[in-house]
Amino acid sequence: MKILTVIAHPNEGSFTHALMNEFISSAKSAGNTVDVADLYAEGFDPCFNMHDIALYGGTGEVSDKIANEHKRVMDTDAIALFFPIWWWSMPAMLKGWVDRVFTSGFAFTFEDGNTKGLLTHRKAAMFCPAASDHGFYRRYGYHNALQRQIDAGVFGYCGIADVETHIFPNAEGSDETRASHLAHARQAGQSFAQSSSLDDDIFG
Ligand SMILES: Cc1cc2nc3c(=O)[nH]c(=O)nc-3n(C[C@H](O)[C@H](O)[C@H](O)COP(=O)(O)O)c2cc1C
Repeated sequence: MKILTVIAHPNEGSFTHALMNEFISSAKSAGNTVDVADLYAEGFDPCFNMHDIALYGGTGEVSDKIANEHKRVMDTDAIALFFPIWWWSMPAMLKGWVDRVFTSGFAFTFEDGNTKGLLTHRKAAMFCPAASDHGFYRRYGYHNALQRQIDAGVFGYCGIADVETHIFPNAEGSDETRASHLAHARQAGQSFAQSSSLDDDIFG
């Protein structure tokens, strides 16, 4: 399977990068190929602009930069997002990538008054370290909120039904916790080409 990993973290030494590196090395050893979109390192501009507004309104052309992003999304069978939880959601950099790249006519369209997803990827996933603990996510429903917003609201909306959510609580915690998170990312990379099940998620 060809996987596009998209990472949004300014620090290459971050735990988010460490999780992605574990995922990539095991996904590759399981026979997958991986392309990396490192949004900060590449200097992606996340600000939705007047050109994007015209495109959304059906009066603009796709710019070369966005066409390149479309190409690398389309060149893969699966998309894996790696980002730290910031304010119970994705960093603005990644949100801007979704806003600007998952455009109308590319990622979804309208047919007979209904929206229709246009992405045909076999699966998608998100891998998100977070400082808070498991109980905190459960108590306030943040895990479900992320799933609703990103699994269903972004990937499902665009036609990708098989979506894994991997949230890594206590990511600023002990070495033992971090080692177990890295092992989980390695395992997810190893089995990524298979269909996901709820057991794939730490939250289960
Ligand atoms: C701006 C900002 C907002 C954050 N918001 C949350 C949050 O809403 N929930 C949470 O559990 N952790 C939050 N954190 C903690 C990060 O998730 C944590 O620092 C990160 O996952 C650690 O991984 P890293 O080394 O890759 O940054 C926040 C951190 C920052 C910098």
